[in-house]
Amino acid sequence: TQNEKESLYIALDFANKYYQEQLWKTPEGESIGQSYFKERGFNHQTIHKFDLGYSPDGWDTFTKHALKSGFALDILEKAGLTIIKEGKDPIDRFRGRVIFPIHNVAGKAIAFGARILKKDPNSPKYLNSPETAVYHKSFIVYGIAQAKNPIRQEENCYLVEGYTDVVSLNQAGIENVVASSGTSLTKEQIQLIRRFTDNITVLYDGDAAGIKASLRGIDIILEEGLNVKAVVFPDGDDPDSFVQKVGSQAFKDYVKNTQKDFIRFKTEISLKDVGNDPIKRAELIKELVETIAKIPDSIKRSVFYKEVASLLSIDEHILITEGNKIFQRKA
Ligand code: CTP
Ligand code: MN
Ligand code: MN
Ligand code: MN
Ligand code: MN
Repeated sequence: TQNEKESLYIALDFANKYYQEQLWKTPEGESIGQSYFKERGFNHQTIHKFDLGYSPDGWDTFTKHALKSGFALDILEKAGLTIIKEGKDPIDRFRGRVIFPIHNVAGKAIAFGARILKKDPNSPKYLNSPETAVYHKSFIVYGIAQAKNPIRQEENCYLVEGYTDVVSLNQAGIENVVASSGTSLTKEQIQLIRRFTDNITVLYDGDAAGIKASLRGIDIILEEGLNVKAVVFPDGDDPDSFVQKVGSQAFKDYVKNTQKDFIRFKTEISLKDVGNDPIKRAELIKELVETIAKIPDSIKRSVFYKEVASLLSIDEHILITEGNKIFQRKA
C-alpha cells in the first residue's frame, strides 16, 4: 500500500543518514570506512555526492538504534535493512561494510549495495538489498538521480557495470553515467534512461564477461530504439581502475578515440575468432543482420546494412533482403 511504501522510504532515509553518520562521526567509521574510500581514491566531495556510508561491524547495531528511535521491526525487515530468522534475534543485513545507497530518479534512497572491505572467499564482495515494495532491481540504474541532468545536457548516457565505476567517473568530471549493477540489462532500465536521452555508450569491464554482457546489452538497447556505441577497456581494467590509472583527460581521449558504433564493435570482436573460415563468416553476417533487424527505424537499419556490407565485403542487397524477412517475422 501507499502507506507502507511511505514507511519504507522513511526507514530507508533513516538508514541512509545513519550509515553516513557512522562513516564520518565514529572512530570505527573513520579508521575503517574512510580509510577504505581513501585507498580507492575517492575524495570527500565525491563521497558526499553519492551519500556513501559505513555499516558498523556488529550483529544488530543499526537495528537496535532504529528500534530505539521508534521504527517497527516489521518495517525494518520489509525495507531490507534487518534480517529476521525464526527463533533468533533480528540482525542487521549490512555489517562491517562500506555502503553505496541506491537512489530512485527523485533522489530517495530505495536500497543499498554494501561492499566487503577485503577479499573473503566465504562472503560475497557486494551484498545488496533484496527486492522490496520500493526497490525493483531490474527497473532502476545506479546513479540516475545524480546523472539525469548531465545526461540531458550531454545528450548521452555512459552505461557502466559497477557502483565504483559511477563514483570514480564522477570524480573525474564525467557525470552522465549510470550502472546496471552487474545484472543483465533490462528493457525497463533502458526505458528509464530514455526519459533523458536516446544515446547510450556502453563502458563495461574489459574482461570476457564484460564483453559478453556488452553484446547482450547492445541488442536490448537497439530493440528499445536507442542509439548505442561501445568501448572496450584493456583486459583487467574497468572504467574505475582505468580512470584512476590514466587520469581524467586520458580517459576521455580513450573513450573518444576507441568508441565504436555497435556494428563495428560486434564485427571486430567476432572477427577475432572468425578468421578466414567462410562458414563462421557467414554465421557472423547472419548475427549482424539479426541485430540490425531489431532496430525499429528503417532509415537507421539501411545505414547499418551498408556498413556491414562494406566491413565484410558482401552485397548490401542480400543483407537487406534477409534482414527484412526477419523484421517482418517479428512485426
Ligand atoms: N555485483 C554484485 N554482487 C557481487 C558482485 C558484483 O551486486 N557479488 C554488482 C555490483 O553492483 C558491482 C557490479 O556488479 O558494482 C560489477 O561487479 P564487479 O565488476 O565485480 O565490481 P566493481 O564494481 O568493479 O567493484 P570493485 O572495483 O570494488 O571490485
Ligand atoms: Mn550528503
Ligand atoms: Mn566485472
Ligand atoms: Mn572495479
Ligand atoms: Mn568492475
